[in-house]
Amino acid sequence: MSNLAVIGTQWGDEGKGKVVDLLTDGADLVVRFHGGNNAGHTLVVGDSTYALHLVPSGILHPDKVSLIATGVVVDPGVLIGEIKDLMARGIEISPKNLKISGKAHVILPYHKRLDEARESRAGAGKIGTTGRGIGPAYEDKASRVGLRLSDLLDLALFESKVKKALQEKNCLFEKLYGQKPLEAADIMAEARDWAAFLSPFITDTFAIIQKAVKENKNILFEGAQGVQLDIDHGTYPYVTSSNPTAGSVSIGSGLAPNKIDKVVGLVKAYTSRVGEGPFPTELLDETGTKIRDIGREFGTTTGRPRRCGWLDAVVVRTAVDLCGIDSLAITKLDVLRHHDEIKMATAYRLDGQELSHVPGILSDFSRVEPVYETFKGFSQDLCSAKSLDDLPPEAKVFLKRLSETVGARIGLVSVGPERGQTIILDKFFK
Ligand code: IMP
Repeated sequence: MSNLAVIGTQWGDEGKGKVVDLLTDGADLVVRFHGGNNAGHTLVVGDSTYALHLVPSGILHPDKVSLIATGVVVDPGVLIGEIKDLMARGIEISPKNLKISGKAHVILPYHKRLDEARESRAGAGKIGTTGRGIGPAYEDKASRVGLRLSDLLDLALFESKVKKALQEKNCLFEKLYGQKPLEAADIMAEARDWAAFLSPFITDTFAIIQKAVKENKNILFEGAQGVQLDIDHGTYPYVTSSNPTAGSVSIGSGLAPNKIDKVVGLVKAYTSRVGEGPFPTELLDETGTKIRDIGREFGTTTGRPRRCGWLDAVVVRTAVDLCGIDSLAITKLDVLRHHDEIKMATAYRLDGQELSHVPGILSDFSRVEPVYETFKGFSQDLCSAKSLDDLPPEAKVFLKRLSETVGARIGLVSVGPERGQTIILDKFFK
């Protein structure tokens, strides 16, 4: 039995979908524990590409159970759409292999509207959210006025909560944002469909996880976003509203912290971020454009072009220490082909001092200068590499230095989008 958490070490979009899908082979349960449909995991299986936003990647394996646990915020319409699309493509989904926590909070139409209204009003001060209502839904959860999925099991109760919520939300829409109010009846018309479809899937995921632990099952916890988007430890306010760090596995699923056996940190061989906020290794020149084009760095959820830059080992080291990462899963190494030189920031310089970790004050983070180490580039096609020895020596030097400087071993290297294009070095489940 072992329990494994997969965490993005950067700003999300590290290529989690493929790695989680691979690791799912050894898992009995696959669990999403935070975030919502702001995430977008792309999986390439055979000739088919799947873009998942809410449903755990384990769903593509019929013998696994996928859980959307307590810490997730669920947009029911999006979830139902995703389930139906997958079913239409031949994926078997039933309450046997997909279970959703009744404690997970619901993203309602007013959350999405509020997210958009705030962002457009903020102008240059915007966060650059995905516009999916994630922040407002978590806000209501923290304010104890949110609706949980279990509320869908009692539509009269659901309606009374919606009406109460609208008293406040409509005041904001009308008075502050100059918009038409939302009608409870419209929301309830949708809610009836949500309840009819989702009720059989709504359950107590905590109990399922505890039972799996007692039965010595292997559980894979599928993180979304990345450490620098963590609401507590990331580049606040340019963050998401949940905790993509390893500690969140316990909070968001109910697995005790001492039952997490291994934390795998996803590291893209370069850095990208969407939305606003500091990004010390960002490349605003043609090298950045080349990385974006070759790496196809456009949002799975929003289609937005991602900001791109060199690998920032300071960011990765911070994630390793914050999350107790044992093993690094390197993705998109192949994207770094065709550069004469490749760079990696191994420290920052700030006011004459060298920093090993991301500074705690955002204005400091905006001022740091990356201290780069420069590596020879490589042009060899990597996609058929089956072991580290198949990689060009320049790529091996780059990986070795990353491992040394952040203090975690390399457990897996992805050299292409397909499942087979992966070098697996670690035994992930015992
Ligand atoms: P929100 O999560 O939609 O509130 O957006 C807050 C910030 O997190 C924005 O900068 C988003 O672009 C970013 N973000 C949210 N989800 C993801 C993700 O899955 N990958 C990368 N960035 C994300």
